[in-house]
Amino acid sequence: MRATATAQPNIALIKYWGKRDTELNLPAVGSISITLSELFTRMTVAFDTALPVDELLINDEKNDKLLPRLSHALDIAAGANRPRARITSECNFPIAAGLASSASSFAAIVVAASAAIGIDRPVGELANLAGRASGSAARSLYGGFVELENSGDRVVVRELLPADAWSLDVVVAVTATGPKPVGSTEAMESSRRTSPFYDRWVSDQPADLASARDAIASQDFAALAAIAEHNCLKMHSVMWSSRPPIVYWNDATLACLQTIRELQSDGIDVFFTIDAGPQVKAVCDKAATATVEAALRETDGVQDILHSGLGAGARLE
Ligand code: DP6
Repeated sequence: MRATATAQPNIALIKYWGKRDTELNLPAVGSISITLSELFTRMTVAFDTALPVDELLINDEKNDKLLPRLSHALDIAAGANRPRARITSECNFPIAAGLASSASSFAAIVVAASAAIGIDRPVGELANLAGRASGSAARSLYGGFVELENSGDRVVVRELLPADAWSLDVVVAVTATGPKPVGSTEAMESSRRTSPFYDRWVSDQPADLASARDAIASQDFAALAAIAEHNCLKMHSVMWSSRPPIVYWNDATLACLQTIRELQSDGIDVFFTIDAGPQVKAVCDKAATATVEAALRETDGVQDILHSGLGAGARLE
């Protein structure tokens, strides 16, 4: 009745933004991500028939704000008639600041809850259950480069390239640590309803996925950089053109993009991506990590730097 799982966040290079089914939480577009190695969420689920309600501790502190979504994830993994649970979570990076903490949390909780309730599920099914809790979490079941494809009423998630096949790092420039003003679930629904660019975003996505898939297969850094930056800026254009506008960036976000442009013009293999938050993720060749990290650290408004290589999918402890 008790199990612990660890999952790493993932960073999308070709983004998931928009849902085609809010009930089943099915994405409107496929996506491609990289799973990180250094950042983690470790989640213990202990079902206890004596408990009247679910309980959640994150880094030793009681947290009622995130509890409803995690309880819902337990219902998805163990059925609504499950016993109540004590959930204990440990996370080594800021929560709810656009660092994909939800992906690692929901991947970990689905793996831990399935084991705790005694169901042995194949990884593809765990990915579907995690995806119902949070779309991006489906990708954290796998390591390295991961593609999520829409397939009927399911998603199909697969590894495109293992973590150790291409020596890339991600340097995260943290430009704000508070929670984001609007969560991605609500924001992407608003984009679907109100952005004049939304339909074009959805219809162009297969071409971006194909370009990224080719770049990954041939380990062509320049091609991956070009398509990932384009796809990221297109997603943010959809956000900016929503009503009311969804703007996650701050001054330091833009300053980091400028730093990355300068590094690129010096011939450094680096590109940026930004999710539903103000942090800038610089993806670079491992040989350039120290240079990229130093340049971002000196950029105005950068509060902290995290860096990580590529890592493995969610697993039981
Ligand atoms: C910008 O997976 O958090 O990070 O399914 O509503 O929980 P829900 O959304 P979520 O959205 C992630 C959006 C993104 C892009 C991405 O990770 O692909």
